[in-house]
Amino acid sequence: MKIRIAPSLLSADFTRLADEIAMCEAGGADWLHVDVMDGCFVPNLTFGAKVIEAARRCTNLPLDVHLMTLEPEKYFESFVKAGASVLTIHVETAPHLHRQIMRIRELGAMAGVTLNPSTPLESVREVLVDLDLLLIMSVNPGFGGQRFIPQAIDKIARARAMLTSAGSRALLEVDGGIARDTIAVCHAAGADTFVAGQAIFGAADPRAEIAALRVAALPTT
Ligand code: DX5
Ligand code: ZN
Repeated sequence: MKIRIAPSLLSADFTRLADEIAMCEAGGADWLHVDVMDGCFVPNLTFGAKVIEAARRCTNLPLDVHLMTLEPEKYFESFVKAGASVLTIHVETAPHLHRQIMRIRELGAMAGVTLNPSTPLESVREVLVDLDLLLIMSVNPGFGGQRFIPQAIDKIARARAMLTSAGSRALLEVDGGIARDTIAVCHAAGADTFVAGQAIFGAADPRAEIAALRVAALPTT
């Protein structure tokens, strides 16, 4: 099973965004994870289309945009125009989830859905076949550098089983507290795509850390 490593730009040095992105590419990153926070759904405020567009001008890597915003549909069009490849919305912010997924796909992006740690998987069951990506949050969203919540492991395993039984081909991503000591167990539980912020940008050699995470995800024993 191919795995994807998606460095989270939230932990990058924004005074050197182009260099940080080039470093991710040189280290073999598969995607770049872009965290959009609105200061309402989550207690932190980041950025929007302008930064997505700046990142797009630096790289051809897929931009994996995670919308932590109320009324996420307000941003679909401008974010896709800015260069987003994947738009992932929170089920807690999307009462018309099926309609939102269809709209994202109509705009030409991959459609992802995510859930807070306290939100049951049952809330996405009916849309699994329509998804390109299911993201399991392993921290409460809002900040980088938080501690991995271990209950996420069982949730990943249950999500994998649900995707299989629904016949869904969605990717299964995990976000929050992913590092060398947590990535293997998430992979073993069924995740194939891994977001990592602090583990990469806080490492002594961030470029080498991307490769180290990939190795750690796939233990030989
Ligand atoms: C948290 C964000 C994450 C965050 C992950 O709200 O969604 O993408 O950047 O950062 P780490 O890997 O440091 O937990
Ligand atoms: Zn994220």
